[in-house]
Amino acid sequence: MIKQAIIPLAGLGTRLLPLTSVFPKELLPINGKPGIEYILDECIEAGVNEIIFIISKKKEIIKKYFNNDNFYKSIIKKKSDPRIIKEYKKILFFKKKIKFVYQNKPLGTGDALLKTKKFIKNNYFLMLLPDDLIMKKNCSKDMIKIHKKYKCSVMASMKVKKNNVDRWGIYSITKNLDKLNFKIADVTEKPNTKDAPSNNAVIGRYILSKKIFNYLKNQKKGKGGEIHITDSIKQMILDENLFIGHKFKGKYLDCGSMHGYINSALEISKL
Ligand code: G1P
Repeated sequence: MIKQAIIPLAGLGTRLLPLTSVFPKELLPINGKPGIEYILDECIEAGVNEIIFIISKKKEIIKKYFNNDNFYKSIIKKKSDPRIIKEYKKILFFKKKIKFVYQNKPLGTGDALLKTKKFIKNNYFLMLLPDDLIMKKNCSKDMIKIHKKYKCSVMASMKVKKNNVDRWGIYSITKNLDKLNFKIADVTEKPNTKDAPSNNAVIGRYILSKKIFNYLKNQKKGKGGEIHITDSIKQMILDENLFIGHKFKGKYLDCGSMHGYINSALEISKL
């Protein structure tokens, strides 16, 4: 049962400067809607009923965005605009499902995930990286189906350009299970082009077992001095935990870089 989703939001967003110098990237509008709401919609549609946001003190405005009831109530009282009422209802719906935890030092996704340990209720949970939008097909929902069938961890996968592998976690595959799913033999965080075992990249959707916390708590810093979930996943695979890579069918949009962010709005406006 996958009922909880984790969304790390404490990153600094330097690739989107100057837009992110005072404003969190996850609230930047993409075709008239904050990027984070696309991620929330995906979670809810996939059947998740609790979402854990990992934020930092610097990004408390994200909390305010979902807790601004007094502001909405006063506006609605003065002017009962159906559009505003509808938007407020949507925010209220999300608010009831979101819990906030803090990661005040940007020490990596692995460190962020570790902060949620005591809130995880079931054996498996979903994690989504908000820079990665997947449109047209609900990737989380499809991954949950695979998890139900194989009772194991699942990660989203996409082929990337061979000269760009050092931007991603890269898989090697042992066995194809079917057209879209494969058994992962190994995964390496941001390998050099010459060392990369393939150009199959990890995209920011993970179904993880809570066993990962045992690995994360001892995880040493990796690439760039950060604690990467990929390094703990690598260790879990070595210890014979099954991880399946899922080649998702939706359209991938990278909204963590300036070029990708601008392109995301264009692409979504065409959907
Ligand atoms: C993170 C992961 C990486 C993965 C990527 C997907 O990297 O560490 O393995 O391929 O997300 O977007 P980041 O984007 O935080 O550098």
